[in-house]
Amino acid sequence: MLQLGKYTITGAILAPMAGYTDVAFRTLCKECGAGLTVTEMVSVRGLVHDSQKTEQLMRLSEIERPSCIQLFGNDPADFAAVAKTLDCDIIDINMGCPMPKIVNNGDGAALLNNPERAGQIVRAIKDVTDKPVTVKTRLGYNIDENQAAALIESVAAAGAAAVTVHGRYARQRYSGLSDGGEVLKLAKSSPIPLIANGDIGEVFPPDPHIAALMIGRRALENPHVFDDKPEDPFGTARRHIELLTQYFDERYTINQVRKFFVHYFRRVHGSKALRSAVNIAESVSTVLHAVDYCEMLNQ
Ligand SMILES: Cc1cc2nc3c(=O)[nH]c(=O)nc-3n(C[C@H](O)[C@H](O)[C@H](O)COP(=O)(O)O)c2cc1C
Repeated sequence: MLQLGKYTITGAILAPMAGYTDVAFRTLCKECGAGLTVTEMVSVRGLVHDSQKTEQLMRLSEIERPSCIQLFGNDPADFAAVAKTLDCDIIDINMGCPMPKIVNNGDGAALLNNPERAGQIVRAIKDVTDKPVTVKTRLGYNIDENQAAALIESVAAAGAAAVTVHGRYARQRYSGLSDGGEVLKLAKSSPIPLIANGDIGEVFPPDPHIAALMIGRRALENPHVFDDKPEDPFGTARRHIELLTQYFDERYTINQVRKFFVHYFRRVHGSKALRSAVNIAESVSTVLHAVDYCEMLNQ
């Protein structure tokens, strides 16, 4: 169980995933039992400059209570300016993204090399809001340089409520397997609750030092990973499409469906034909017919 300020989180958390965890997919995962959902990362610099695109990334649904927005950047003043205006319950800071366009700006995983700045960011937010602030990071920047402990100490002293650790180094990006042993070591020494992330279910044994688990890519394959109900690609796809059409236009809906069907239908007979049909579909109703047809083949 994880306590974030007045919010008690039970159940695994959906990891933020840029390009995937929009309001429709987060709602779907929440319906499937996710304990907490987090938006994909949103640039504080973008928000300070009032970009409309960034606003869309922060759309929340009613079911997302408590709601959590993930921010990235490196200037404490930007974070403070944005934190004052955010309409959400919890603020998460990305200190783990390894992508060059992010770290070259000093954002994301670059903050592992600058724990003092990481602490200043958390402090700047805590100075302007009572909302719980969490931090998401990795084991370190360079392989085998375990910098997470110093970062955790700094953000905890500044008032962070919890930290998520993905058990890879930034330089690894997504290669190899997440190191659950290193994450557990950090959990044992962390002054604040630690949320374990990275290949959960494959390498991570349950342990009382871990406050919660965060699941990313496995949820893309099967949102029922949260409630342990049997995998149901057809039902999942239909509900996901329904939610997408509720929040977005047809073009966006079809684009998302193309991405998700690769994961949902990976083990389904006829999935190749289904994906080909969806790749040329120009309307949601064509997509739904293709899903019905594929389901018929599987009965
Ligand atoms: C497509 C994709 C997009 C991601 N975007 C973000 C992001 O916006 N913010 C973030 O903190 N992590 C992001 N991540 C990392 C995930 O949150 C998570 O830490 C990682 O996938 C490991 O967990 P998993 O093994 O359960 O997938 C992303 C990962 C993927 C695969």
